[in-house]
Amino acid sequence: MTDVKGLSIAILGGTGDQGKGLARRFALAGHPVFIGSRSAQRAQEAAETIGAGATGDENAAVAARADLVIVAVPYDGHKALLESLRGELAGKIVVDCVNPLGFDKQGAYALPVEEGSAAQQAAAVLPDSRVVAAFHHVSAVVLMDPAVDKVDLDVLVLGDDREATETVQALAAVIPGVRGVYGGRLRNAHQVEAFTANLISVNRRYKAHAGLRITDI
Ligand SMILES: NC(=O)c1ccc[n+]([C@@H]2O[C@H](COP(=O)([O-])OP(=O)(O)OC[C@H]3O[C@@H](n4cnc5c(N)ncnc54)[C@H](OP(=O)(O)O)[C@@H]3O)[C@@H](O)[C@H]2O)c1
Repeated sequence: MTDVKGLSIAILGGTGDQGKGLARRFALAGHPVFIGSRSAQRAQEAAETIGAGATGDENAAVAARADLVIVAVPYDGHKALLESLRGELAGKIVVDCVNPLGFDKQGAYALPVEEGSAAQQAAAVLPDSRVVAAFHHVSAVVLMDPAVDKVDLDVLVLGDDREATETVQALAAVIPGVRGVYGGRLRNAHQVEAFTANLISVNRRYKAHAGLRITDI
């Protein structure tokens, strides 16, 4: 497996549940973690709640500093934020975990995305970055729960750059219990993002934080 020891990780929108959950697990695994936000102060406050050496700053500053950047903002702000960081993100692995979902009385449903998926939108906006899709099905609640030592989950990792997907698979595996499993090219990211709507339905019916396991590998 690819060696990701010492890889520094920035999280755009790292003040939210998903960003903080991932930041906590990567910081606990010994990675330098930089929380990004539209506000340096909010980022620093979030970093303090995470501890384990995490620091915080504005999105552009953390994007420029890190080896690998995770995008953990709502779909609404996704495209505009990435467009504003094209320079900072050039040449880097950019991991998109954004699920374009709508919610109504019947629950969650997948939104149509012109580019096909949020990950493909990221790749279109960031032609000089190595965009990988991953971490769509992790539960932020589980990642933040100090009682959960091992997270029972496979992370599907999709992308067109083999070295980049292998790096992200290895990164997923630093979270105890997690496997990073290659899930195909970026053009297949839509159904992975959309499947989150099914998982949300499962969670509501069974009062769970359901994850995904791939069998026979
Ligand atoms: N929550 C989960 O369990 C989970 C699991 C898998 C994937 N995801 C995906 O991860 C992403 C983040 O989820 P979340 O629950 O953490 O969301 P969130 O709390 O609503 O948002 C995360 C952060 O994004 C920033 N943000 C909000 N609107 C923005 C905008 N228009 N432009 C730029 N930044 C903006 C905010 O940070 P500042 O105000 O500090 O800038 C906010 O704290 C979503 O796309 C979601 O689909 C979530």
